[in-house]
Amino acid sequence: MEKGVNGSEPQEIEFRPVEESDFPTLTAWLAKPHVRRFYQKTPVTLEQVALEYGPFVRGEEPTICHLAISRDAPFAYLQCYRNADYPEWVDIILVNDGISVDLFVGEPAYLHRGFGRAALCGYLLEIAFPYYASETRAYIAHEPLNTAALRCSRAVGFRPLRKFLEGGVEMVLLGSNRLSIEGAALVSLRTRSWLRRERLAFGGHRQVYRKGPAKAQQFYRSQFPSSAKAVGFLPIDAGRSNMPQFPSYWRSTNKSIT
Ligand SMILES: CC(C)(COP(=O)(O)OP(=O)(O)OC[C@H]1O[C@@H](n2cnc3c(N)ncnc32)[C@H](O)[C@@H]1OP(=O)(O)O)[C@@H](O)C(=O)NCCC(=O)NCCS
Repeated sequence: MEKGVNGSEPQEIEFRPVEESDFPTLTAWLAKPHVRRFYQKTPVTLEQVALEYGPFVRGEEPTICHLAISRDAPFAYLQCYRNADYPEWVDIILVNDGISVDLFVGEPAYLHRGFGRAALCGYLLEIAFPYYASETRAYIAHEPLNTAALRCSRAVGFRPLRKFLEGGVEMVLLGSNRLSIEGAALVSLRTRSWLRRERLAFGGHRQVYRKGPAKAQQFYRSQFPSSAKAVGFLPIDAGRSNMPQFPSYWRSTNKSIT
């Protein structure tokens, strides 16, 4: 696993509720170019942030919101709500069960290092599902051009359901359930040490690292040899468990992985 910021790794993530004293940080994050591109398209002032997020923080609205923290440093914002609590949202996504989640990595130094994926997965399993304990499904929406967000959500176990329009903007709705997200988290943990070893064994072959988890997830989600075969996993050493077969698969096919 690639080392994260300050040597930390994405799995060392904690969450705490947003406080009003965090609004200056949120305002600064919402002004960052990567957040403005898809998450906060219009500029916002500290006063506007206080108006929009204050009701969540004070419990006046049914949305919960948290900061993700790595080694005492907040780096991302996440929020979650029960869809049924927002009928206008239900009307546009045409789903009335489950919860929805939104997130952004605010600190640019944490982008594209696995922190977004780890924060989203951790937030759903440690905060969102336990808080909305009667809900089993989760939804998230991204613009079709938001490749990082789509890949991040897919890596956590979400799958595209349909497109819809939000304020005239085309969005992709993705859905998942608690079990799938737990499965993706398990795979991520189980593959991490393998990937670390593989990178050493193959001179730090970054393609193996970058593509490994997604392939491993496909495999583990299938659980059955016939499905595994369908996604391209060929048993190489039938006498061993499934896990050690991954590196052999990647090794034999990494030329086609771009
Ligand atoms: C979307 C976001 C949370 C992802 O977090 P991140 O830390 O950058 O992403 P990760 O490093 O965890 O990577 C997750 C996946 O996205 C891929 N990815 C990351 N950055 C990417 C980029 N710039 N282009 C394409 N893919 C990218 C990773 O390779 C990984 O995919 P893989 O598992 O198939 O290899 C973050 O980019 C962000 O905050 N963007 C701005 C706000 C936003 O768009 N929020 C989503 C709307 S709700």
